[in-house]
Amino acid sequence: MSSYAVTGASKGIGREFVRQLAADPTNTVLTIVRNPESPDISELASNHPNVHVIRGDVTDPKSILEAASAAAAVTGGTLDVLIHNSNAVDIASISSNPTQIPFDAEAVRRIFDPSLSTAIYGGLWTTNAFLPLIERGVQKKIVHISSAMADLDFINKSGISYAVAYAVAKAGMNVQIAKYAAELAPRGIKALALSPGWVDTWEGEKPSQVVEADNVMLKQFQVVEPDCKGQIQPEESVRKCLQVIERLDAKTTGLLLSHNGDQAKWL
Ligand SMILES: NC(=O)c1ccc[n+]([C@@H]2O[C@H](COP(=O)([O-])OP(=O)(O)OC[C@H]3O[C@@H](n4cnc5c(N)ncnc54)[C@H](OP(=O)(O)O)[C@@H]3O)[C@@H](O)[C@H]2O)c1
Repeated sequence: MSSYAVTGASKGIGREFVRQLAADPTNTVLTIVRNPESPDISELASNHPNVHVIRGDVTDPKSILEAASAAAAVTGGTLDVLIHNSNAVDIASISSNPTQIPFDAEAVRRIFDPSLSTAIYGGLWTTNAFLPLIERGVQKKIVHISSAMADLDFINKSGISYAVAYAVAKAGMNVQIAKYAAELAPRGIKALALSPGWVDTWEGEKPSQVVEADNVMLKQFQVVEPDCKGQIQPEESVRKCLQVIERLDAKTTGLLLSHNGDQAKWL
């Protein structure tokens, strides 16, 4: 009988966390989304009485505090596991290398803001808002969904120079998680940055540019892990992530781990 809160649960990996967790009727699953009326989420909730849909925007402190209050009302003030999964990026600049970042303060903010707002400020506000619930929970686990794109060894070996703001924000998330782990260890609370692997979360048919970009990335990924065949499905990623979360303890708190539970096999 465990309780979970998942942010950014409207689609992709977040929605798959909700789907797999909801399959155990003894779980209580708090589904934090910006739009609770979105059809996919309403359908999941209507088929699973243990799924509770709560409005929450992680980039808005008032909204996420209200989401934590609504969650506390459902669970009686406790939470076992917080999964901060929300993410946003500036797609227009995703293929830019660092030397292409313009000498234009406003443009730079436009490039970095979506990633920093969701990963860094959103990670802080969401964690701090749900912390009183986590303190009263049994498992006491905080998980931020990060990326291998923020692992220095992975960047250096793959030679991936683009996705600057995304990777910088996820690297900051990893540091933030280590800070939470250091602060909260005496209270028995564990914190983990977790990379979900390379996961196909595209909805509908992929445009040719996306297919091309995937192929370029695959080649770069294969430099690091020659046996990588391509993207995995959300089902596999989340199944493995949940096993890693299950094993999270005082020894692994503060780390960035892959969905395989190590710092070696990221894909
Ligand atoms: N897919 C991969 O290969 C991969 C690889 C490494 C790491 N990751 C990480 O895994 C996580 C999930 O990835 P994904 O591919 O499933 O992403 P996705 O399909 O883009 O979904 C992102 C989710 O974040 C939500 N979101 C965006 N801004 C938000 C905000 N301000 N407040 C609350 N929610 C917000 C979106 O909700 P709306 O519907 O409201 O926009 C959506 O549910 C992300 O953190 C991503 O960085 C993914």
